[in-house]
Amino acid sequence: MTQPIFNASTPASAPSKKAHVIVLGNEKGGSGKTTTCMHLIVALLRLGFSVGTIDIDSRQRSLSRYLENRRQTILKENVALPQPQHVVVQRSPFNIVQEAEEDDRERFTKTLMRLVEANDFIVVDSPGSDTYLSRVAHAHADTIITPINDSFVDLDVLANVDGQTMKIIKPSIYSEMVWEQKLMRAKRDGGSIEWIVMRNRLSNIDAKNKRFMTQATGELARRIGFRVAPGFSERVIFREMFLQGLTVLDIMEMNGGVGLSLSHVAARQEVRDLLKTLRIAKLDEHINRQNEEAAAKEEAQNKKDEAKEEAAEASKEAANANPASVSSEPLKTAPEPVRELEALAS
Ligand SMILES: Nc1ncnc2c1ncn2[C@@H]1O[C@H](COP(=O)(O)OP(=O)(O)O)[C@@H](O)[C@H]1O
Ligand SMILES: [Mg+2]
Repeated sequence: MTQPIFNASTPASAPSKKAHVIVLGNEKGGSGKTTTCMHLIVALLRLGFSVGTIDIDSRQRSLSRYLENRRQTILKENVALPQPQHVVVQRSPFNIVQEAEEDDRERFTKTLMRLVEANDFIVVDSPGSDTYLSRVAHAHADTIITPINDSFVDLDVLANVDGQTMKIIKPSIYSEMVWEQKLMRAKRDGGSIEWIVMRNRLSNIDAKNKRFMTQATGELARRIGFRVAPGFSERVIFREMFLQGLTVLDIMEMNGGVGLSLSHVAARQEVRDLLKTLRIAKLDEHINRQNEEAAAKEEAQNKKDEAKEEAAEASKEAANANPASVSSEPLKTAPEPVRELEALAS
């Protein structure tokens, strides 16, 4: 691999950093938490933000392994890739529940406080089960993202739904937990948590399922209080680069647009759409600023091109009006007889 540079065109924010905390959560394994997490981290890094990452899924450690693979790629392939400041928070080894919970809380908050001061964003990957550590992380979130696989089976992560009438019987334990953490957060610092549910592995084949899921998640969103993100489609590109620690966003910038498929472009757009859905002020401002800069650059280039064209046109017209001017260039070589004399003299 050759030496790519990452696109951190505009430095993100002012020196005093107070990170925005994003937690990926869903009490089901295999719903796309780590995949979404990694793509979000790389997207933020490539926008020029500094990112702190915390893995509280200390059993699977999928995010940590993804990032470790990235580090290996940097070392072995000699490529420059943006990296986050990463920490794994282990579960407490204590046996007594109260002691263990206190220990978990302390471990997490200490790590978070340290990263919050030094970064623009913190992204937390959590396990697919209900742990105390996961609850603590949810309570400290500014934004919770819950990816769900695009199937009926996964709806029960959000609520128990009557299969016949499609009515919501009651919110799921996870929805209640998020609700509780929202209350805790409001009590603790008056802050609010934005909850976003993201449909993952969308397929174009099953249009009927897709329609139903759109309707059901829309209904649940109103009842349980979350926003629905457009989501990621089922794409090989979202899963095939784990071992290299790369994402589609890296590949697209490393290759400079060479050998990319429509699927690459579509996948990158899905990640960008997720960023937009988050509605985080400093992120939106940054993206708008970058877009404005790009538009201004393009306009300046267009003006330059126009001026060049006009100048070329003008000199063509001048040449047509005065044909003699075509041969008005001074002669660079000496006329024949002079050269013969020079040859004789030497
Ligand atoms: N949009 C997607 N397209 C294709 N494969 C996906 C997609 N999202 C996740 N996967 C794959 O599904 C599996 C589970 O995803 P993962 O992110 O590890 O879930 P979780 O962290 O919630 O357990 C992984 O093998 C991952 O590569
Ligand atoms: Mg995971």
